[in-house]
Amino acid sequence: MLTSTADLRSFVVSQHKLGKKVGFVPTMGALHEGHLSLVEASAKQCDATVVSIFVNPSQFGPNEDFQRYPRTLENDLSLLQKTGYLQAGYMTGGEQDTAVEVFVPSITEMYPAGFDTSIHVGSVSQILEGKSRPLHFQGVATVVLKLFLASQADTAFFGQKDFQQICIVRKMVSDLNVPIEIVMCPIVREPDGLAMSSRNRYLSASERRQAVVLSQSLRLAEMMIVQDNIRDAAAVKRAAEQKIRTAPDAVIEYVSVADSVTLDELQRIESKPVILLAVKFGTTRLIDNLVLSL
Ligand code: PAJ
Repeated sequence: MLTSTADLRSFVVSQHKLGKKVGFVPTMGALHEGHLSLVEASAKQCDATVVSIFVNPSQFGPNEDFQRYPRTLENDLSLLQKTGYLQAGYMTGGEQDTAVEVFVPSITEMYPAGFDTSIHVGSVSQILEGKSRPLHFQGVATVVLKLFLASQADTAFFGQKDFQQICIVRKMVSDLNVPIEIVMCPIVREPDGLAMSSRNRYLSASERRQAVVLSQSLRLAEMMIVQDNIRDAAAVKRAAEQKIRTAPDAVIEYVSVADSVTLDELQRIESKPVILLAVKFGTTRLIDNLVLSL
């Protein structure tokens, strides 16, 4: 396990000296199968993988769940170990052995006294999640860029689950010429369709049952667009919202039918739309999305 950025850099340099391609999987821990799918994708596509576990304070708002965000390091490490990723530091990933390292920095390692720089990505960070979480993406972009530069990894793996996050990371990488490839991995879901999330554990039994309406509303939207050829975004949005409202405790924050690159809201549904939603159950805020290719 690596805890300092200096050791992280040495690990990646040593892998590069061996001619290995290094993948990076940034996480905040509380790992589940969604995270593990990213590790697996990296293990398949790269020769070595770094998984970072860091609950990044700067991406939480003052009234958000930074303090109570689940911290389950022991369990995270044993999950990685159980799946074979960390066994003796190596796993067999096809033709060659794949080294997997975990990077678990302290807050002062990432933000030493006097740290005073932040990355602001423009308009795509102001809408949707950015509206109710004004400094969230600034915190994400800053920590992600720092991890990219500290590690010098070749490829980074992100989940479609946080679709707007990927758009922001891609924009930052492109605008700032950051030499790293970004790979998006599909959303991993529970058997009933709920997207896996570290925050699902906050749901009461009743809220958990109701939360299935999120993925159901996305499927409904998909049916309307793909099967019924409906192109009126407002109609699709209305139907998805109605479906969500069938859950008595669901409070909709947004449902958006948008362009999948700019995230600008569409009036007429065109080639590659994304349907994004954020819904609260009690104090738990869940997000989900669906990208379509027409
Ligand atoms: P975290 O919420 O821990 O997520 C880490 C990565 O796992 C993200 O790329 C996220 O999209 C992906 N992920 C989460 N649930 C998933 C699911 N059900 N299926 C597929 N992938 C899933 O996102 C963050 O942490 C932070 O903002 C971070 C990028 C680490 C910066 O602090």
